[in-house]
Amino acid sequence: MTELGPVVWPPAPIRTERLVLRESEARDRAAFIELFASSEVGAYLGGPRPRDELERAVPEVPGRRPGLFVADLDGAMVGTVTLERRGAERPGHIRPDAGEAELGYMFLPEAWGRGYAAEACAAALDWFADALPGEPVVLCTQTANDRSMRLAAKLGFAEVERFEEFGAEQWFGVRSSVPTSG
Ligand SMILES: CC(C)(COP(=O)(O)OP(=O)(O)OC[C@H]1O[C@@H](n2cnc3c(N)ncnc32)[C@H](O)[C@@H]1OP(=O)(O)O)[C@@H](O)C(=O)NCCC(=O)NCCS
Repeated sequence: MTELGPVVWPPAPIRTERLVLRESEARDRAAFIELFASSEVGAYLGGPRPRDELERAVPEVPGRRPGLFVADLDGAMVGTVTLERRGAERPGHIRPDAGEAELGYMFLPEAWGRGYAAEACAAALDWFADALPGEPVVLCTQTANDRSMRLAAKLGFAEVERFEEFGAEQWFGVRSSVPTSG
């Protein structure tokens, strides 16, 4: 049993047309630092973090936890996809006891605009639908985050509500458990 529920973690690496979804490894550390230090990636996520602070704080093997997939293109990390439980303290829920599975995604700017995020998220959602059949997945993103809003729609998320959090309008959506491929 993981925080995510009764799932086997890590699963065997998941191959998509162009990517592999896998657990994080020590060789991904520079890419993790790049993600958190990037002003483009952080634009709608509270801003970038100082690189020197990240160099000190990021562990040798970053991001190794149930529900965090590294998206690997030809042996190099290009982003992360997460499926984690949404905290009860956050606004936006579809069940009274909270703790919904929530999708998150962060890709390096040089990998944007090629459909990698969509490809990786669809595979992670398929994995989740198989691991915990019938369970819906939620997603929360700033409405100003155009790329993320487009991706959410492409993945089949439907709006539940909008609310203010972190000084910005947030879009909160849900996706029922239906396979996106295969
Ligand atoms: C949100 C984010 C992952 C979206 O990345 P993205 O690359 O735009 O998303 P997709 O994988 O869906 O790619 C879509 C684009 O690839 C293009 N594309 C090119 N080749 C493609 C292919 N083979 N298949 C699909 N799309 C392709 C599409 O036309 C589209 O281009 P457009 O944006 O010019 O319309 C990225 O902007 C990001 O990491 N942002 C920072 C983190 C963040 O804000 N996360 C949200 C928190 S919930």
